Amino acid sequence: MTSSWGDAHDGWPYDHAVTSDQPSDQRDHWVRTFAAKQDFLGSEPSETGRAALSAFLAASAREIVELGSGQGRDSLLFATAGLKVTALDYAETGLAQIREKAQSAGFGGSVTTVVADVREPLPLATAAVDGVYAHMLLCMALSTEQIVSLVAEVHRVLRPGGFFFYTVRNTSDAHFGAGSAHGDDQFEMGGFIVHFFGRELIERLADGFKILEVADFEEGRLPRRLSAVTMARI
Ligand SMILES: C[S@@+](CC[C@H](N)C(=O)[O-])C[C@H]1O[C@@H](n2cnc3c(N)ncnc32)[C@H](O)[C@@H]1O
Repeated sequence: MTSSWGDAHDGWPYDHAVTSDQPSDQRDHWVRTFAAKQDFLGSEPSETGRAALSAFLAASAREIVELGSGQGRDSLLFATAGLKVTALDYAETGLAQIREKAQSAGFGGSVTTVVADVREPLPLATAAVDGVYAHMLLCMALSTEQIVSLVAEVHRVLRPGGFFFYTVRNTSDAHFGAGSAHGDDQFEMGGFIVHFFGRELIERLADGFKILEVADFEEGRLPRRLSAVTMARI
């Protein structure tokens, strides 16, 4: 199914990306990009975030985690809707902007920021949250094995019945197969490495979950072609 979930005005990738001397150092690249440009991925919440919020509210979720929260366009949406949000990312520059925005909007008490690399076990308690949200995080520079381990960690931190809502760029994206190849369906352009997902990988990640929906959509000017996956923890 293809549906348009809106048209963010950002150009990611690449027209606002900071040129990096070390394109393989993805963390530094994000840190520098967020320091150089406020609202790199748009100042408004994403359509994906709005869809996830409806699902979280319908399920009476109260505490959620956003993995790869960037500069917080969706973390702030969740907080303003009354959810307690943990925003986790390895780019401290983006997290600092999230704290500032949350405080100036009067929601500082609803947002906790955590600096962490999702290639390591998540620094979160077991069965601690009602929902996990990750918009374009699993499709970053992560190997298939790292993605499988991360989703096992998501399963651990979710309460039974909790939702895991994630989006990934998929193999119908115009940039799949373009730029420098890094193996394992990862390609680099403009200093950013993207892992493009096919349906098989989405199915593989459903171990311990029930897939509720997989919906293809487009975002941004390229446009990026993505799949949004909603799963419930069993
Ligand atoms: C494409 S951006 C998406 C940001 C945000 N979800 C949004 O849509 O506005 C990817 C985010 O993932 C973060 N990220 C990438 N790899 C990561 C890793 N290994 N650990 C933690 N965060 C990571 C980046 O710093 C960046 O904030």
